[in-house]
Amino acid sequence: MPIDPDEYYGDMLEGLAAWFASPFVADLRATVARFPAPDLGNALNRNQVASKRWLVDRLREAAGERFGTITILGGWFGVLGAMLLHDPRLAIRRVVSVDIDPRCAAIAESLNATHVRSGRFVAETGDMLLRDYPPIASGTDVESPDVVVNTSCEHIAAFGDWFARLPQGQLVVLQSNDYRGVAGHVNCVSDLEAFRAQAPLRPLLYAGTLPTKRYRRFMLIGRK
Ligand SMILES: C[S@@+](CC[C@H](N)C(=O)[O-])C[C@H]1O[C@@H](n2cnc3c(N)ncnc32)[C@H](O)[C@@H]1O
Repeated sequence: MPIDPDEYYGDMLEGLAAWFASPFVADLRATVARFPAPDLGNALNRNQVASKRWLVDRLREAAGERFGTITILGGWFGVLGAMLLHDPRLAIRRVVSVDIDPRCAAIAESLNATHVRSGRFVAETGDMLLRDYPPIASGTDVESPDVVVNTSCEHIAAFGDWFARLPQGQLVVLQSNDYRGVAGHVNCVSDLEAFRAQAPLRPLLYAGTLPTKRYRRFMLIGRK
């Protein structure tokens, strides 16, 4: 009898959710059932998860464990939001995941259903180039700073215009890569130095490179 892959992998995800008592795996199982077509597999592949894990670990080392609102631009299907909010080492008030693609918000909210219910995750459809970034109110962000994350810098042709919109002193986490030739990769950088020149941060709390099989990913953490 032919195997129905949805049922086959769905059963496994349900089993894993029960085994690890994992609300995230339960949310993932519900999401793949509700949204079978979009490419959630890509957003959860090994490279993607490794680069988000790298971000979470370095952010914790560079800026601590307590955060206010973390705004994720180009947040796609909400994988990074889930990894941040489910990390037991971190205390994050709220994650806002913004993407220009109108397909993303419903999927991101389904993948983060646990934290939508508790009011700690929201997905918005919008263009990061048109967004207003509130100024840093003095004294309010010392214990739990707000963070702006953009792991899609390679997708932003008008990167300089976007960076100019951020308020002075904003804590940011930026990722880009040298993976040229991929549709939508209109702002790749050749190396970490080129990325640092594109996005000058002071203080620069972290700068690093994560090599993968086909390309290198670059990350900067610091204040604009
Ligand atoms: C392929 S995904 C993520 C790639 C990225 N390297 C990562 O791992 O997070 C890029 C996302 O950026 C979004 N995006 C591109 N331009 C945008 C913009 N101006 N504002 C908001 N989202 C944007 C796309 O819709 C897409 O979901």
